[in-house]
Amino acid sequence: MPSDATAPRKRLLIRTWGCQMNVYDSARMADVLAPLGYAPTETAEEADMVILNTCHIREKAAEKVFSDLGRLRVLKEEKAARGERMILAVAGCVAQAEGAEITARAPHVDIVLGPQTYHRLPEMVARAARAAGAVIETDFPAEDKFDHLPDASQPSGPIAFLTIQEGCDKFCSFCVVPYTRGAEFSRPAAAVLSEARRLVDGGAREIALLGQNVNAWHGAGPEGRTWGLGRLLRAMAAIPGLARLRYTTSHPRDMDDDLIAAHAELPQLMPFLHLPVQSGSDRMLRAMNRGHAADDFRRVVEKLRAVRPDIALSSDFIAGHPGESDADHAATLALIREVGFAQAFSFKYSARPGTPAAGAGGQVPEPVKDARLAEIQALLRGQQDAFNRSRAGMLMDVLCTGPARHPGQMAGRSPWLQPVHFDAPARLAGHLVPVRITAAHPNSLAAEWLGAGATTPPLQQEIRAA
Ligand code: 5AD
Ligand code: SF4
Repeated sequence: MPSDATAPRKRLLIRTWGCQMNVYDSARMADVLAPLGYAPTETAEEADMVILNTCHIREKAAEKVFSDLGRLRVLKEEKAARGERMILAVAGCVAQAEGAEITARAPHVDIVLGPQTYHRLPEMVARAARAAGAVIETDFPAEDKFDHLPDASQPSGPIAFLTIQEGCDKFCSFCVVPYTRGAEFSRPAAAVLSEARRLVDGGAREIALLGQNVNAWHGAGPEGRTWGLGRLLRAMAAIPGLARLRYTTSHPRDMDDDLIAAHAELPQLMPFLHLPVQSGSDRMLRAMNRGHAADDFRRVVEKLRAVRPDIALSSDFIAGHPGESDADHAATLALIREVGFAQAFSFKYSARPGTPAAGAGGQVPEPVKDARLAEIQALLRGQQDAFNRSRAGMLMDVLCTGPARHPGQMAGRSPWLQPVHFDAPARLAGHLVPVRITAAHPNSLAAEWLGAGATTPPLQQEIRAA
């Protein structure tokens, strides 16, 4: 431990699983604890407090928490033997869903807090320091959380995340989110815009708006009327210095025409959209309670491509939802072939306790799920390779995020969120720079920097010419 007088008094380790919203929440938890003297550390050995910010979306993610808690128990006991205290907190969706199980299976946990109670962390830490048993806070007041959190600290790089919406009212048959994150809640536009301005003042050039159902956002506008996401994006695009905008994760049902029009109007809105469809079979989409058919998804994609020809799509797919037949699976493969994805996530169906699908008949045997997932992934892998290869030779602006692993190399992100590497001086970090793509790899692109003063053609023009 450092011993000089200016050294932080306490060390905090936050381990984060799951979605970008958890990454955002972890940063806000660090903000809330900073005034208590907690500074970040990378190792559990050094930590006076460890927070596991957890994900409950699939069984594997939830089980990892318990194995981590087992390892931390040993560390906590070793520390206690030396007369040191380690506060152990479990946050996030596993905490929300399995609070009682955590305290039963892991009595060495001091704090269990759901995603809507982070603003109460300082008080919980104080109570945990005094208490014998665990302090549990798993209420659902999303409004309170945003009202009571301090302003977000500076972004750690040129790409920043900003949560604008939480929760979900859609109740897809397989999903725990409506139970762990609660009902849909949208932050008011003014709060979002002032946080965005602060992030840009702190060096952010790209902001990704986050929400479990981000395009269901309908926040109060400054003049009292409700805004939709298209309107919010237009207001965001007017912030000087903000070069790039994204939003994730969207639902096909909430892709309204105004939001699609924003893709036509705003050059800041990057031509890449994550739009989960889950299945290509109408029968399965009904069983999943998705509220849309496969053709609705196709129509949304058509409209997006009509207004923004260079837009690339990402999606989520589930293999082996209860009741899925070979024909349903074939319909998913057909939809993937037809639409074409630049990138996508696919998962084996995992029964989540308390969700309707977990108790449904027609559970699909594991080997069948495995085989279907492998087929989906092979198809998607090929499409991702083809998409990456189609960028070779292209001129584009890359947002430099910082030095790459190889000395003298810079890492950055393409408009389509692909990692890009190229030789360039470290001083370019945080800047948008023009490059030519020289090679495509499965998960990244290689490029050459075109030098200061070079310009790239507007994206859509480049695609039409390609
Ligand atoms: N089993 C498998 N995948 C799931 N997802 C959500 N719940 C489950 C589940 N029970 C996937 C969906 C969702 C993504 C975040 O995780 O595809 O879009
Ligand atoms: Fe889960 Fe469906 Fe809501 Fe997405 S829309 S968070 S999959 S319930």
